[in-house]
Amino acid sequence: MLKGKSLVNIDDVASEDFFRIFDLASEYKKRLSVGEYVKELEGKIMSTLFFEPSTRTRLSFESAMHRLGGNVISVSEAKSSSASKGETIADTIRMASSYSDIVVMRHPMEGAARLASEFSSVPVINGGDGSGQHPTQTLLDLFTIWEKFGRIDNLDVSLVGDLKYGRTVHSLVRALSRFDNTVNLISPEILQMPDHVISGMKQARRIKRIENLDDVLTKSDVFYVTRIQKERFVDLNDYAKVIGSYSFDMETVSKMKKNSIIMHPLPRVDEINPEVDMDPRAYYFREASNGVFVRMAIISMILGVR
Ligand code: CP
Repeated sequence: MLKGKSLVNIDDVASEDFFRIFDLASEYKKRLSVGEYVKELEGKIMSTLFFEPSTRTRLSFESAMHRLGGNVISVSEAKSSSASKGETIADTIRMASSYSDIVVMRHPMEGAARLASEFSSVPVINGGDGSGQHPTQTLLDLFTIWEKFGRIDNLDVSLVGDLKYGRTVHSLVRALSRFDNTVNLISPEILQMPDHVISGMKQARRIKRIENLDDVLTKSDVFYVTRIQKERFVDLNDYAKVIGSYSFDMETVSKMKKNSIIMHPLPRVDEINPEVDMDPRAYYFREASNGVFVRMAIISMILGVR
């Protein structure tokens, strides 16, 4: 159960809770679609502390809290908080947790959310910690897959792009591998998924490193495409070697199964051509929209109203 707990790593969420979250997110989605105002969190306050840029995660968390009837206080960039004066994560989180009932934090340092949870008096949700994890993104990704296929097992899923620095795929591969899925890892050599991300998983034998996207184009059910993250490279010469490694255009999409989907945590740069957006297999904007309903479910379960 999520009640009263921090959500730092996807491993913090039991598999049965995945489905509780999906059911509640579906309920909220239906209620909002008919204009119903959900007032379950009136009087509750969420702090959003974002020390790294974000569009979807911060706005969808804040939208989710407002749609539940709660309120939000926010730090939207490091320079507008006392972190810019040298305040530690521990002191920042002590303050934020004394002002609110739940904290969502994004930080460039891997492990920052775990550290914050140790100093917080209220639950902390990891909104992305460097190249670590992005567990709520994974829950909305799985919800999107579940809506489409009616299941999150017996699927062939290809993760494409920056698998080294990509926190979304680090969380997603661990979640998918709990179930009976085949996961193909497709990346440039220097951006392969680190072994520590997939170590110790029961289903690791169903995770395959694939060199060529063409080898899976006709068989995967889900293509989860990620941006090559320029901001994470220590040496920009390495970035120059891999930029544009993968690009989905209509020629690529024409080879995919009719019932397959393309996902992307966004933002995208050049890895999916906008000409693909109108194809029914383009699921990335629907995926991002689902962020509000899934985050509503997560917040209300952690705060114990569900
Ligand atoms: N998917 C995601 O984390 O997007 P933002 O960086 O815009 O929050």
